Amino acid sequence: MKNILVTGASSGIGLAIAKSLAEHGHEVWGTSRNIERIPKIPRLHPIRLDLADPHSIEEAFASTLSEAGHLDVLINNAGAGHFGPAEVLPLDTITSQFQILVFGQIQLMQLALQHMRPRGEGLIVNVSSLASRLPVPFMAAYNSAKAALASFTMSIQLEFAHPNVRIVDLQPGDIRTDFNQGVIVSDEVERYKTKISRAWEITERNMKNAPGAELVARKIVSLIESTEPPPRITVGNVFESKIAPLIFRFLPQRLRVWGLKKYYGI
Ligand SMILES: NC(=O)c1ccc[n+]([C@@H]2O[C@H](COP(=O)([O-])OP(=O)(O)OC[C@H]3O[C@@H](n4cnc5c(N)ncnc54)[C@H](OP(=O)(O)O)[C@@H]3O)[C@@H](O)[C@H]2O)c1
Repeated sequence: MKNILVTGASSGIGLAIAKSLAEHGHEVWGTSRNIERIPKIPRLHPIRLDLADPHSIEEAFASTLSEAGHLDVLINNAGAGHFGPAEVLPLDTITSQFQILVFGQIQLMQLALQHMRPRGEGLIVNVSSLASRLPVPFMAAYNSAKAALASFTMSIQLEFAHPNVRIVDLQPGDIRTDFNQGVIVSDEVERYKTKISRAWEITERNMKNAPGAELVARKIVSLIESTEPPPRITVGNVFESKIAPLIFRFLPQRLRVWGLKKYYGI
């Protein structure tokens, strides 16, 4: 039995992970900005967390530790997106995406590492995205924030040499959740309207046809049980998790841009 903190446990991937871990007998602290949204199930303890606020991050971590005594695993999962043209993306939007998807996650990871290093063991899973490698058009802030989190995770994997404290970059492809419902779509710039609506249509279609969040939950359970978790893992349907990243890796940049534009119909 492990003590596990899962951020963004009120919905989608985080909720599936939290439920599955609790069912496997682990004690889970699950976060939301509104703890009423965390379902009342045995071994799932609600914790308030707003990644937009560094004080809330400190408080959430301290509350988890004071309730749990110690922490074995952090699943850095919470996140939200924005959809709009990069050319006119307000600096506030970019800053807010980076606060939620990069700075907040790093703050939480550093707090967890300070706790795990002296204990001599632990696991941190940073949920970035396949979008860090295959960007989605009109999600420039989101894509680049996820790429920054993936790069930070790999950087710390290079430096942090503790055999029993592991850090994993988990990159979901499309997973069927309510993520798109929370996405703010900015399509007021006339010259981008058609492209935005086409790209959004593809994004929505992909989400509808995607595997459910239980797929990610199963991967997390196996990561927690593994003695040698991989540094990076991609989760999604076979095309997104295996074929597309493999093809993409060997294509010249010009073809990557062409291929993605074709794929999204823009
Ligand atoms: N679904 C996909 O296709 C997909 C693909 C690649 C990566 N991902 C990543 O997977 C993670 C989970 O996404 P999901 O699909 O499960 O989305 P979701 O169903 O919308 O869940 C997002 C979770 O994050 C929390 N959250 C949002 N903004 C927050 C903030 N400012 N502070 C703290 N918590 C916040 C939400 O909690 P409250 O609203 O209750 O606070 C919610 O529990 C995200 O990091 C996302 O980028 C998803």
